[in-house]
Amino acid sequence: MKIVVTGAAGQISYSLIPFLCEKGVFNCSSKIDLNLVEIPQAMQRLEGVVKELEDSAYSNVNKILTFDDISLAVEDADWCLLVGSIPRGIVFKGKEIKERADLLQINGGIFTKQGQAIGERSKDTCKILVVGNPANTNALIGQKNARNPRQTWMAMTMLDALRAKAQLALKIGCHVDDIYRLAVFGNHSPTMYPDLENAVINGSKVSTLMDDQDWVEKQFLPKIQQRGAEIIHARGASSASSAARAACETVKAVEHKTRDGDIFNAAVISDGSYGINEGVFSGFPLISDGEGNIEIVRDFSLSDFAKSKISITSRELDEERNLVGDLL
Ligand code: NAD
Ligand code: LMR
Repeated sequence: MKIVVTGAAGQISYSLIPFLCEKGVFNCSSKIDLNLVEIPQAMQRLEGVVKELEDSAYSNVNKILTFDDISLAVEDADWCLLVGSIPRGIVFKGKEIKERADLLQINGGIFTKQGQAIGERSKDTCKILVVGNPANTNALIGQKNARNPRQTWMAMTMLDALRAKAQLALKIGCHVDDIYRLAVFGNHSPTMYPDLENAVINGSKVSTLMDDQDWVEKQFLPKIQQRGAEIIHARGASSASSAARAACETVKAVEHKTRDGDIFNAAVISDGSYGINEGVFSGFPLISDGEGNIEIVRDFSLSDFAKSKISITSRELDEERNLVGDLL
Protein backbone atom coordinates (compact mmCIF):
# COMPACT_ATOMS: atom_id res chain seq x y z
CA MET A 1 0.00 0.00 0.00
CA LYS A 2 1.16 3.51 -0.75
CA ILE A 3 0.66 6.00 2.07
CA VAL A 4 1.18 9.75 1.54
CA VAL A 5 1.71 12.12 4.47
CA THR A 6 1.96 15.88 3.91
CA GLY A 7 3.53 18.20 6.46
CA ALA A 8 5.78 15.23 7.16
CA ALA A 9 8.46 17.26 8.96
CA GLY A 10 5.93 18.94 11.26
CA GLN A 11 4.95 18.26 14.86
CA ILE A 12 1.99 15.96 14.28
CA SER A 13 3.76 13.91 11.66
CA TYR A 14 6.72 13.33 13.96
CA SER A 15 4.42 11.19 16.11
CA LEU A 16 2.03 10.06 13.38
CA ILE A 17 4.43 8.44 10.93
CA PRO A 18 5.90 6.00 13.52
CA PHE A 19 2.33 4.99 14.48
CA LEU A 20 1.53 4.28 10.80
CA CYS A 21 4.62 2.11 10.46
CA GLU A 22 3.45 -0.39 13.08
CA LYS A 23 1.79 -3.62 11.99
CA GLY A 24 -2.01 -3.87 12.12
CA VAL A 25 -2.85 -0.29 11.17
CA PHE A 26 -3.59 -1.04 7.50
CA ASN A 27 -5.73 -4.01 6.58
CA CYS A 28 -3.23 -5.61 4.22
CA SER A 29 -0.64 -8.34 4.34
CA SER A 30 1.94 -6.44 2.26
CA LYS A 31 4.40 -3.89 3.57
CA ILE A 32 3.73 -0.15 3.18
CA ASP A 33 5.51 2.44 1.03
CA LEU A 34 5.67 5.91 2.58
CA ASN A 35 5.66 9.03 0.40
CA LEU A 36 6.48 11.98 2.65
CA VAL A 37 5.71 15.49 1.41
CA GLU A 38 7.01 18.87 2.55
CA ILE A 39 7.53 22.37 1.24
CA PRO A 40 11.01 22.96 -0.26
CA GLN A 41 12.20 24.95 2.79
CA ALA A 42 11.50 21.97 5.09
CA MET A 43 13.12 19.23 3.00
CA GLN A 44 16.29 19.19 5.06
CA ARG A 45 14.29 18.72 8.28
CA LEU A 46 12.37 15.96 6.51
CA GLU A 47 15.62 14.16 5.67
CA GLY A 48 16.30 14.06 9.42
CA VAL A 49 12.89 12.49 10.01
CA VAL A 50 13.63 9.87 7.34
CA LYS A 51 16.97 9.01 8.95
CA GLU A 52 15.17 8.29 12.23
CA LEU A 53 12.55 6.19 10.46
CA GLU A 54 15.30 4.18 8.77
CA ASP A 55 17.01 3.70 12.13
CA SER A 56 13.73 2.36 13.54
CA ALA A 57 14.00 -0.60 11.09
CA TYR A 58 10.25 -1.22 10.84
CA SER A 59 9.45 -4.70 9.59
CA ASN A 60 6.23 -3.38 8.06
CA VAL A 61 7.86 -0.69 5.88
CA ASN A 62 9.13 -1.32 2.37
CA LYS A 63 10.25 2.05 0.98
CA ILE A 64 10.39 5.68 2.19
CA LEU A 65 10.54 8.48 -0.38
CA THR A 66 10.45 12.28 0.05
CA PHE A 67 8.78 14.84 -2.23
CA ASP A 68 8.34 18.59 -2.50
CA ASP A 69 5.90 18.11 -5.38
CA ILE A 70 2.49 16.79 -4.37
CA SER A 71 1.57 15.60 -7.85
CA LEU A 72 4.47 13.15 -7.95
CA ALA A 73 3.89 12.00 -4.37
CA VAL A 74 0.24 10.98 -4.75
CA GLU A 75 0.64 8.76 -7.85
CA ASP A 76 -1.32 5.52 -7.16
CA ALA A 77 -1.78 6.40 -3.48
CA ASP A 78 -4.07 4.26 -1.28
CA TRP A 79 -4.16 6.77 1.58
CA CYS A 80 -3.34 10.50 1.76
CA LEU A 81 -3.02 12.02 5.22
CA LEU A 82 -3.12 15.77 4.65
CA VAL A 83 -1.48 17.27 7.71
CA GLY A 84 0.63 19.96 6.02
CA SER A 85 -0.70 23.44 6.85
CA ILE A 86 -0.28 26.17 9.42
CA PRO A 87 -1.60 25.76 12.99
CA ARG A 88 -3.33 28.54 14.93
CA GLY A 89 -1.75 30.18 17.96
CA ILE A 90 0.93 31.84 15.81
CA VAL A 91 1.32 35.38 14.46
CA PHE A 92 0.91 35.46 10.66
CA LYS A 93 1.56 38.68 8.72
CA GLY A 94 1.34 40.65 11.96
CA LYS A 95 -2.02 39.16 13.02
CA GLU A 96 -2.53 36.56 15.73
CA ILE A 97 -4.42 33.53 14.43
CA LYS A 98 -6.97 32.89 17.16
CA GLU A 99 -9.64 30.57 15.71
CA ARG A 100 -9.23 27.66 13.32
CA ALA A 101 -11.55 29.42 10.85
CA ASP A 102 -9.03 32.31 10.70
CA LEU A 103 -6.76 29.81 8.92
CA LEU A 104 -9.15 29.44 5.98
CA GLN A 105 -7.54 32.11 3.84
CA ILE A 106 -4.02 30.88 4.69
CA ASN A 107 -4.47 27.11 4.42
CA GLY A 108 -7.45 26.82 2.05
CA GLY A 109 -5.31 27.33 -1.05
CA ILE A 110 -3.08 24.34 -0.17
CA PHE A 111 -6.01 21.99 -0.64
CA THR A 112 -6.98 23.09 -4.16
CA LYS A 113 -3.72 21.86 -5.67
CA GLN A 114 -3.56 18.79 -3.44
CA GLY A 115 -7.18 17.92 -4.30
CA GLN A 116 -6.53 18.19 -8.05
CA ALA A 117 -3.43 16.00 -7.81
CA ILE A 118 -5.18 13.34 -5.71
CA GLY A 119 -8.25 13.29 -7.94
CA GLU A 120 -6.18 12.83 -11.07
CA ARG A 121 -3.39 10.57 -9.87
CA SER A 122 -4.33 8.61 -6.73
CA LYS A 123 -6.31 5.38 -6.87
CA ASP A 124 -10.09 5.56 -7.17
CA THR A 125 -10.18 3.62 -3.89
CA CYS A 126 -7.95 6.23 -2.19
CA LYS A 127 -8.96 7.38 1.30
CA ILE A 128 -8.05 10.93 2.22
CA LEU A 129 -7.97 12.25 5.78
CA VAL A 130 -7.62 16.02 6.21
CA VAL A 131 -6.03 16.99 9.52
CA GLY A 132 -4.87 20.53 8.66
CA ASN A 133 -7.24 23.18 10.00
CA PRO A 134 -9.93 24.24 9.45
CA ALA A 135 -10.18 20.54 8.63
CA ASN A 136 -13.84 20.28 7.57
CA THR A 137 -13.75 23.09 5.04
CA ASN A 138 -10.26 22.16 3.81
CA ALA A 139 -11.67 18.69 3.09
CA LEU A 140 -14.50 20.30 1.14
CA ILE A 141 -11.97 22.32 -0.90
CA GLY A 142 -9.88 19.20 -1.55
CA GLN A 143 -12.82 17.02 -2.50
CA LYS A 144 -14.35 19.61 -4.82
CA ASN A 145 -11.03 20.09 -6.61
CA ALA A 146 -10.40 16.33 -6.85
CA ARG A 147 -13.58 15.81 -8.88
CA ASN A 148 -13.34 12.06 -8.32
CA PRO A 149 -16.52 10.81 -6.63
CA ARG A 150 -15.08 7.32 -6.11
CA GLN A 151 -12.45 8.51 -3.64
CA THR A 152 -13.35 8.86 0.05
CA TRP A 153 -12.59 12.24 1.61
CA MET A 154 -12.77 12.74 5.39
CA ALA A 155 -11.80 15.40 7.92
CA MET A 156 -10.59 14.50 11.39
CA THR A 157 -13.05 14.62 14.31
CA MET A 158 -11.58 11.56 16.02
CA LEU A 159 -9.53 13.74 18.38
CA ASP A 160 -12.72 15.42 19.62
CA ALA A 161 -14.30 12.01 20.15
CA LEU A 162 -11.30 10.70 22.09
CA ARG A 163 -11.31 13.84 24.23
CA ALA A 164 -15.03 13.36 24.90
CA LYS A 165 -14.54 9.70 25.83
CA ALA A 166 -11.69 10.60 28.20
CA GLN A 167 -13.80 13.22 30.02
CA LEU A 168 -16.83 10.94 30.23
CA ALA A 169 -14.73 8.04 31.54
CA LEU A 170 -13.39 10.33 34.29
CA LYS A 171 -16.90 11.45 35.22
CA ILE A 172 -18.44 7.95 35.29
CA GLY A 173 -15.39 6.06 36.52
CA CYS A 174 -15.22 3.63 33.61
CA HIS A 175 -12.56 2.80 31.03
CA VAL A 176 -12.59 4.66 27.70
CA ASP A 177 -12.95 1.34 25.85
CA ASP A 178 -16.23 0.66 27.68
CA ILE A 179 -17.82 3.64 25.87
CA TYR A 180 -19.76 2.97 22.65
CA ARG A 181 -21.72 5.22 20.28
CA LEU A 182 -20.22 8.55 21.32
CA ALA A 183 -20.56 10.75 18.24
CA VAL A 184 -19.25 14.23 17.50
CA PHE A 185 -21.50 16.15 15.11
CA GLY A 186 -20.58 19.15 12.99
CA ASN A 187 -17.45 21.24 12.65
CA HIS A 188 -14.04 20.68 14.31
CA SER A 189 -14.45 24.08 15.97
CA PRO A 190 -15.96 25.56 19.14
CA THR A 191 -19.45 24.82 17.74
CA MET A 192 -18.93 21.05 17.53
CA TYR A 193 -21.54 18.94 19.31
CA PRO A 194 -20.25 15.84 21.15
CA ASP A 195 -23.41 13.85 21.89
CA LEU A 196 -23.86 11.88 25.11
CA GLU A 197 -27.57 11.14 24.57
CA ASN A 198 -26.83 8.10 22.43
CA ALA A 199 -23.63 7.01 24.18
CA VAL A 200 -23.64 3.60 25.83
CA ILE A 201 -21.37 2.28 28.57
CA ASN A 202 -21.18 -1.50 29.03
CA GLY A 203 -24.64 -1.89 27.53
CA SER A 204 -26.35 0.92 29.51
CA LYS A 205 -27.28 4.32 28.10
CA VAL A 206 -25.28 7.11 29.73
CA SER A 207 -28.57 8.78 30.70
CA THR A 208 -29.38 5.80 32.98
CA LEU A 209 -25.96 6.01 34.65
CA MET A 210 -25.79 9.77 35.11
CA ASP A 211 -28.46 12.45 35.51
CA ASP A 212 -26.45 15.65 35.36
CA GLN A 213 -27.48 17.89 32.44
CA ASP A 214 -25.84 20.79 34.24
CA TRP A 215 -22.44 19.06 33.96
CA VAL A 216 -23.10 18.24 30.30
CA GLU A 217 -23.97 21.84 29.38
CA LYS A 218 -21.66 23.82 31.66
CA GLN A 219 -18.59 21.60 31.86
CA PHE A 220 -18.49 18.75 29.37
CA LEU A 221 -19.48 20.60 26.16
CA PRO A 222 -17.29 23.68 26.68
CA LYS A 223 -14.36 21.48 27.77
CA ILE A 224 -14.43 19.44 24.54
CA GLN A 225 -15.22 22.43 22.33
CA GLN A 226 -12.30 24.43 23.78
CA ARG A 227 -9.82 21.62 24.42
CA GLY A 228 -7.64 22.56 21.44
CA ALA A 229 -7.32 26.13 22.76
CA GLU A 230 -6.62 24.82 26.28
CA ILE A 231 -3.70 22.77 24.92
CA ILE A 232 -2.32 25.70 22.92
CA HIS A 233 -2.49 27.89 26.02
CA ALA A 234 -0.69 25.31 28.18
CA ARG A 235 1.85 24.03 25.68
CA GLY A 236 2.47 27.13 23.59
CA ALA A 237 1.82 24.93 20.53
CA SER A 238 -1.15 23.04 19.21
CA SER A 239 -1.84 19.43 20.13
CA ALA A 240 0.50 17.04 18.38
CA SER A 241 0.86 13.57 19.90
CA SER A 242 -2.87 13.28 20.64
CA ALA A 243 -3.70 14.53 17.13
CA ALA A 244 -1.29 11.95 15.71
CA ARG A 245 -2.91 9.16 17.66
CA ALA A 246 -6.36 10.32 16.56
CA ALA A 247 -5.26 10.33 12.91
CA CYS A 248 -3.88 6.81 13.25
CA GLU A 249 -7.06 5.67 15.03
CA THR A 250 -9.10 7.08 12.12
CA VAL A 251 -7.06 5.07 9.63
CA LYS A 252 -7.53 1.93 11.76
CA ALA A 253 -11.27 2.59 12.13
CA VAL A 254 -11.70 2.84 8.35
CA GLU A 255 -9.44 -0.12 7.58
CA HIS A 256 -11.05 -2.55 10.03
CA LYS A 257 -14.66 -3.57 10.66
CA THR A 258 -16.31 -1.48 13.38
CA ARG A 259 -16.94 -3.49 16.55
CA ASP A 260 -20.55 -4.61 16.99
CA GLY A 261 -22.81 -1.92 18.44
CA ASP A 262 -20.22 0.83 18.06
CA ILE A 263 -19.44 3.69 15.65
CA PHE A 264 -16.34 5.70 14.81
CA ASN A 265 -15.95 9.41 14.17
CA ALA A 266 -14.87 11.40 11.14
CA ALA A 267 -16.36 14.24 9.11
CA VAL A 268 -17.72 13.23 5.69
CA ILE A 269 -19.79 15.04 3.09
CA SER A 270 -23.30 15.57 4.41
CA ASP A 271 -26.30 14.11 2.62
CA GLY A 272 -28.63 16.10 4.89
CA SER A 273 -28.57 13.51 7.71
CA TYR A 274 -29.37 14.80 11.22
CA GLY A 275 -30.34 18.22 9.82
CA ILE A 276 -26.80 19.10 8.67
CA ASN A 277 -27.11 20.90 5.34
CA GLU A 278 -26.11 18.88 2.31
CA GLY A 279 -22.70 19.40 0.76
CA VAL A 280 -20.58 20.41 3.77
CA PHE A 281 -18.15 18.14 5.64
CA SER A 282 -19.64 17.34 9.02
CA GLY A 283 -18.77 15.02 11.87
CA PHE A 284 -21.12 12.02 11.91
CA PRO A 285 -21.29 8.61 13.55
CA LEU A 286 -19.86 6.17 10.99
CA ILE A 287 -19.30 2.45 10.55
CA SER A 288 -16.81 0.59 8.39
CA ASP A 289 -17.25 -2.86 6.85
CA GLY A 290 -13.47 -3.34 6.90
CA GLU A 291 -13.45 -3.67 3.11
CA GLY A 292 -13.05 -0.03 2.23
CA ASN A 293 -16.66 1.11 2.67
CA ILE A 294 -17.83 3.52 5.33
CA GLU A 295 -21.33 4.85 5.94
CA ILE A 296 -23.23 7.22 8.19
CA VAL A 297 -25.13 5.53 11.05
CA ARG A 298 -28.65 6.92 10.95
CA ASP A 299 -30.37 5.58 14.07
CA PHE A 300 -29.25 8.19 16.61
CA SER A 301 -32.18 9.92 18.32
CA LEU A 302 -31.70 13.59 19.11
CA SER A 303 -33.47 15.73 21.71
CA ASP A 304 -34.48 19.33 20.96
CA PHE A 305 -31.35 20.39 22.87
CA ALA A 306 -29.13 18.26 20.61
CA LYS A 307 -30.91 19.49 17.48
CA SER A 308 -30.43 23.12 18.48
CA LYS A 309 -26.68 22.54 19.02
CA ILE A 310 -26.38 20.73 15.68
CA SER A 311 -28.12 23.55 13.85
CA ILE A 312 -25.51 26.03 15.20
CA THR A 313 -22.57 23.97 13.94
CA SER A 314 -24.36 23.29 10.61
CA ARG A 315 -24.81 27.03 10.12
CA GLU A 316 -21.13 27.64 10.79
CA LEU A 317 -20.15 25.05 8.18
CA ASP A 318 -22.37 26.83 5.65
CA GLU A 319 -20.71 30.13 6.50
CA GLU A 320 -17.23 28.65 6.04
CA ARG A 321 -18.29 27.17 2.69
CA ASN A 322 -19.51 30.60 1.58
CA LEU A 323 -16.16 32.15 2.54
CA VAL A 324 -14.24 29.79 0.23
CA GLY A 325 -16.66 29.84 -2.69
CA ASP A 326 -13.85 30.90 -5.05
CA LEU A 327 -11.81 27.77 -4.18
CA LEU A 328 -14.57 25.22 -4.76
P1 NAD B 1 3.53 22.17 12.15
O1 NAD B 1 3.67 23.61 11.80
O2 NAD B 1 4.39 21.58 13.19
O3 NAD B 1 3.72 21.28 10.83
C1 NAD B 1 3.08 21.56 9.65
C2 NAD B 1 4.02 21.17 8.53
O4 NAD B 1 3.32 21.34 7.30
C3 NAD B 1 5.28 22.05 8.45
O5 NAD B 1 6.44 21.22 8.48
C4 NAD B 1 5.14 22.76 7.11
O6 NAD B 1 6.39 22.95 6.45
C5 NAD B 1 4.25 21.79 6.35
N1 NAD B 1 3.52 22.37 5.22
C6 NAD B 1 2.96 23.60 5.12
N2 NAD B 1 2.39 23.75 3.90
C7 NAD B 1 2.56 22.58 3.25
C8 NAD B 1 2.21 22.13 1.95
N3 NAD B 1 1.57 22.90 1.08
N4 NAD B 1 2.56 20.87 1.60
C9 NAD B 1 3.22 20.07 2.45
N5 NAD B 1 3.61 20.45 3.67
C10 NAD B 1 3.28 21.69 4.07
O7 NAD B 1 1.98 21.96 12.48
P2 NAD B 1 1.29 20.70 13.21
O8 NAD B 1 1.29 20.93 14.67
O9 NAD B 1 1.85 19.44 12.67
O10 NAD B 1 -0.24 20.91 12.71
C11 NAD B 1 -0.57 20.71 11.36
C12 NAD B 1 -2.04 21.10 11.14
O11 NAD B 1 -2.90 20.20 11.85
C13 NAD B 1 -2.42 22.50 11.64
O12 NAD B 1 -3.28 23.12 10.67
C14 NAD B 1 -3.19 22.22 12.92
O13 NAD B 1 -4.08 23.27 13.23
C15 NAD B 1 -3.91 20.95 12.52
N6 NAD B 1 -4.46 20.14 13.63
C16 NAD B 1 -5.67 19.55 13.41
C17 NAD B 1 -6.23 18.76 14.39
C18 NAD B 1 -7.58 18.11 14.18
O14 NAD B 1 -8.13 17.53 15.14
N7 NAD B 1 -8.18 18.15 12.99
C19 NAD B 1 -5.55 18.54 15.60
C20 NAD B 1 -4.30 19.16 15.78
C21 NAD B 1 -3.77 19.97 14.78
C1 LMR C 1 -6.95 20.76 18.27
O1 LMR C 1 -8.17 20.60 18.40
O2 LMR C 1 -6.14 20.49 19.17
C2 LMR C 1 -6.41 21.26 16.94
O3 LMR C 1 -7.45 21.51 16.04
C3 LMR C 1 -5.50 22.42 17.10
C4 LMR C 1 -6.25 23.69 17.42
O4 LMR C 1 -6.05 24.68 16.72
O5 LMR C 1 -7.04 23.68 18.36
